[in-house]
Amino acid sequence: MKKTLITTLIASAVTIMGVNGIAAAAEKKVKVDFGKREYQNCCVLCHGADGKGNGSVVELLKKKPSDLTTLSKKNGGVFPFDRVYSMIDGREMVIGHGDREMPAWGNRYSADATKAAEYYIDVPYDMEMYARSRILALIDYLNRMQVK
Ligand code: HEC
Repeated sequence: MKKTLITTLIASAVTIMGVNGIAAAAEKKVKVDFGKREYQNCCVLCHGADGKGNGSVVELLKKKPSDLTTLSKKNGGVFPFDRVYSMIDGREMVIGHGDREMPAWGNRYSADATKAAEYYIDVPYDMEMYARSRILALIDYLNRMQVK
């Protein structure tokens, strides 16, 4: 009995120290670029690390992925937010875009959100917000990628 209590105390101390350690590490390197991380996870294979459309699977595609660095340039210097948003989300564009090769991320992101929601039983959790914030982080990164 005594032994279990001590073991529990040690385990909790280690956990607390561990959490503090992580918090301290997080304070030191605050630079988490969510948009970039998202891009590297989901887009880089097709659009390439530099966004110019030369990812490693390009040869397997029928259409060449768009150059994502010239979106603003081709739109009179203004980042085409709406178009890019719906292109990434893809949920409203599926009909009439039967030959679309770019995956629709809206569905995938909201499926991820359904999984994540299992961990948020006690707090209000909006799955649509989860999908949207991932798309917005991506758009922020794409916006920073634009050539002048
Ligand atoms: C499987 C390959 C593939 C992946 C992965 C992919 N794309 Fe695409 N993307 C394409 C292709 C191909 C096009 C050209 C249009 C088409 O065929 O659908 C395109 C077009 C686009 C466009 C439209 C550009 C324009 O000029 O209107 C945007 C924006 C875009 N992709 C962003 C992204 C982002 C952001 C991601 C990551 C979430 C991503 N893509 C992931 C293949 C891909």
